[in-house]
Amino acid sequence: MAHLVAPSLLAADFSNLQRDIEFVNSSDTDWFHIDVMDGVFVPNISFGMPVIKAIADHAKKPLDVHLMIVDPDRYIETFKNLGTDILSVHIEACTHLHRTLNAIRDLGMKSGVALNPHTPVESLKDVLTEIDLVCLMSVNPGFGGQSFIERTYEKVKALRKMSDEAGLDIQIEIDGGVTPANASALVKAGANVLVAGSSIFKAADPSAAATAIKNA
Ligand code: DX5
Ligand code: ZN
Repeated sequence: MAHLVAPSLLAADFSNLQRDIEFVNSSDTDWFHIDVMDGVFVPNISFGMPVIKAIADHAKKPLDVHLMIVDPDRYIETFKNLGTDILSVHIEACTHLHRTLNAIRDLGMKSGVALNPHTPVESLKDVLTEIDLVCLMSVNPGFGGQSFIERTYEKVKALRKMSDEAGLDIQIEIDGGVTPANASALVKAGANVLVAGSSIFKAADPSAAATAIKNA
């Protein structure tokens, strides 16, 4: 199946948020990527529930929520109620990841785990069957517009192999520094969801940039 593209609203123009949501609705992309930060797990704060509610009210595509917060279990139900389709938590923020992933699935969402650049994909070995999506961070989380960490290619390949060998079909999402220039190499390495913030919203022609990433 062709890969999916998830524009990251962190790079949207918040004074024109509805316009940028409508842009995603009508662009050649698949999901809304929504970055939630708490100023503790990452050194930045993005936006909270009222803004996400406003996004959900206008979004016509699935909501892919990336929680960069400590102790995410506290909010799983809240994000379900906000209309989340895919909910990713950071492995580094979960003491009982197996329980957390099951709690996400039990509420009818797809379970996602995000890995910081320093976290080996092998750390997922014993929870693979609990995972629908792995979000491989290709930058250190907390900010948009950073440059892509090349080591990510090896991690995608290793994770795709783990998933295949386990007879699973885990979605592998790449988050951070994705551009039209590296998109096709990422897909070739085994990625099937590409998150893109700056390279879409800050492009001279956002629609053309989205299409370039989608057709990579
Ligand atoms: C970073 C976020 C990313 C970010 C990507 O912490 O998880 O989703 O928005 O931004 P770009 O595509 O600009 O690197
Ligand atoms: Zn993200």
